[in-house]
Amino acid sequence: MIEIKNLIRKNVLNLSPYTCARDDYKGSDGVFLDANENPFGHLNRYPDPYQKELKAAISKIKGVAVENIFLGNGSDEIIDLGYRVFCNPGTDKALTFSPTYGMYEASASINDVKIIRIPLDKNFQINYKDVEPCLSDKSLKLIWICSPNNPTGNCIDRDVVEKIISGFHGVVFIDEAYIDFAEGPSYKNLLNKYPNLIVMQTVSKAYGMASVRIGMAFMNSDLVHYFNKMKPPYNISTINQKAAMRKLAKVEDYKTQVKKIKEERTRLSSELHKLACVEQVYPSEANFILIKVKDSSYMYNTLIGKEIIIRNRNSVISNCLRITIGTKTENNKLIKALKEF
Ligand SMILES: Cc1ncc(COP(=O)(O)O)c(C=O)c1O
Repeated sequence: MIEIKNLIRKNVLNLSPYTCARDDYKGSDGVFLDANENPFGHLNRYPDPYQKELKAAISKIKGVAVENIFLGNGSDEIIDLGYRVFCNPGTDKALTFSPTYGMYEASASINDVKIIRIPLDKNFQINYKDVEPCLSDKSLKLIWICSPNNPTGNCIDRDVVEKIISGFHGVVFIDEAYIDFAEGPSYKNLLNKYPNLIVMQTVSKAYGMASVRIGMAFMNSDLVHYFNKMKPPYNISTINQKAAMRKLAKVEDYKTQVKKIKEERTRLSSELHKLACVEQVYPSEANFILIKVKDSSYMYNTLIGKEIIIRNRNSVISNCLRITIGTKTENNKLIKALKEF
């Protein structure tokens, strides 16, 4: 049985966090002379440090209780906090499956946490036999699983994911940034079963709010407590909390956009299959498609010359390009340019 306290870094367990004025007095009415704010204007007050209204809205949409939600300044802040809550710099390790989202490793380096990198197999799946020997390593504190995975676009097989969560003494983060474009269910439904599971989602992709910088993490409520201790007190601005609430309320816009992006993904994928310059089109459950070509750098630079910007992923998978699904017009422009190769 996993004991939450055993997962947490010792100094975090004992940490007395900074308490802000809104921790001392939680009411919303009155004459506020406690936070050294300027009394004039409409952006003069500090934000709600625990984003209560926004969390209530997210709770309704996602079916996750408010006390199981932590919000970060983008998922990238949650990734960084993950290292700081669970890992001792200089001694602890985290595990990723490559190729995957680069921030897991970038944040590990910033926090002086060693990365164990296990390559995905030729179908971009996790081979459980490769992970099993690592699971008993006491200095391994975090495992990052990205599903659908960036940049490959596929979901990771569920039985392998569950085997890893249930066989590991540390914390498993499942990054579901692209889950809205996938067919299968979210792992957030397994939170009650696994106290060491943290599921991340974001408003940056399907909800079209990358500029708002809000990442969601669903986890055991005791873990939320430690994330709250570690975060900067006002990590999400009032403007961004309000913008997110306005947009989350427009459920129909979200549904229409996700539907259109998925339809365009199918169309673009079939167009890419027809092109001689494309050697392989990988199946995608995300809002992007990975393709293999003969010379990705040449193709990337030629497209830049035509003001079409895609991502050259040659450094992580040889001669692969990642194409984000755009509007129909944008995708047509890309297809036309690719036909000229
Ligand atoms: C897998 C994955 N997770 C997280 C993020 C970043 O999310 P956020 O914008 O919430 O920081 C990205 C961004 O591309 C991503 O690909």
